[in-house]
Amino acid sequence: MDLVIRNASLPDGRTSIDIAVEGARIAAVGHALPMTAAREIDAAGDLVSPPFVDAHFHMDATLSYGLPRVNQSGTLLEGIALWGELKPQLAQEALIERAMQYCDWAVARGLLAIRSHVDICDDRLLAAEALLEVKRRVAPYLDLQLVAFPQDGILRSATAFDNLKRAIGMGVDVVGGIPHFERTMADGAASVTLLCEFAAERGLRVDMHCDESDDPMSRHIETLAAETLRLGMQGRVTGSHLTSMHSMDNYYVSKLLPLIAESGVAAIANPLINITLQGRHDSYPKRRGMTRVPELMAAGVDVAFGHDCVMDPWYGLGSGDMLEVAHMGLHVAQMTGQQAMLRCFGAITETPARILGLEHYGIAPGCNADLVLLDAATPVEAIRLRAARRLVLRRGQIVSEAPPATASLTLPGRPSTVNFRLGR
Ligand code: FE2
Repeated sequence: MDLVIRNASLPDGRTSIDIAVEGARIAAVGHALPMTAAREIDAAGDLVSPPFVDAHFHMDATLSYGLPRVNQSGTLLEGIALWGELKPQLAQEALIERAMQYCDWAVARGLLAIRSHVDICDDRLLAAEALLEVKRRVAPYLDLQLVAFPQDGILRSATAFDNLKRAIGMGVDVVGGIPHFERTMADGAASVTLLCEFAAERGLRVDMHCDESDDPMSRHIETLAAETLRLGMQGRVTGSHLTSMHSMDNYYVSKLLPLIAESGVAAIANPLINITLQGRHDSYPKRRGMTRVPELMAAGVDVAFGHDCVMDPWYGLGSGDMLEVAHMGLHVAQMTGQQAMLRCFGAITETPARILGLEHYGIAPGCNADLVLLDAATPVEAIRLRAARRLVLRRGQIVSEAPPATASLTLPGRPSTVNFRLGR
């Protein structure tokens, strides 16, 4: 063996587990494995997880905070206007540099797979070209999947559909959409049909920004689910945001949830962004705006948490830490039950891996040796502490190391300095 990790805890609750790695793959997983290896790592009972996966991101805008100015109100509409100002000024090299820097941040956080939307409404397709270059450069250490995202509306913007076809031809992976941004509800529904038919013909996956509003009457997720069934695309379609579901009538939702489950459409909530951008027209009580995560999960729908934005026109915070995303998602959804907290960890690991269609993901013989050793014993502790990622392995190689979070206290009235790991 090239490497054996000893005495690990796994996200499924198993403890005292050894993981043997040969080359780029996991060779064996079990108690007290007899094999020796060139390198051994003692996990000392801490959690070893497959890498974090972000199923919803905007890498073309990331780390552009303050360009050309900051979002003063912090609202979605000022963010969209700001992005409109920034778009014509985007330079390919600067965009590539920012995206590459973000990918470094991601790897250090154990985030090794990202699905990023890329705005294709700029006729130059500058951002798509730039992110395809980034995808090629980061491929040895990070899986980047790109979605052709018509930010200005596939019907509302005259050149958007042609641009989307060109972007897919260039190698962008997934068909995006934004039906709630079309001029009318009917246009929104037509855009869903157009894009799903286009994807079905070519065997592509679909991931639409869908019903990202507080409008209780927004119905595009219903159309997306129905079109997925009609076109036989079960398992390949995702509805992102779905924030209107937060505000919908409960009777209607009781009919909608089984339809989404039947259609195999996955859902992605973006808790950091939904909690800050939605409910802005409310006085009090203010809606949270995040979609109905536990109810979707209970109905059997795959639900992932996405980061959506980091330091961009919509959100001036974030650092590529999916544990921060899960922490917010858990709180907003009030998912504090023991099983519910574990499901929140799954929403940033195995569920988005399934949504992206990642192959050989997980901790089992034959899986890629992509692993994260956390400074925490359990998934819940990892979320609680936003635990340090002590080691990140990609295909059996250590790509990032970080010390545990520690402190030394010298307190008045106490005889000696106390050293401890924060929160443990
Ligand atoms: Fe988004």
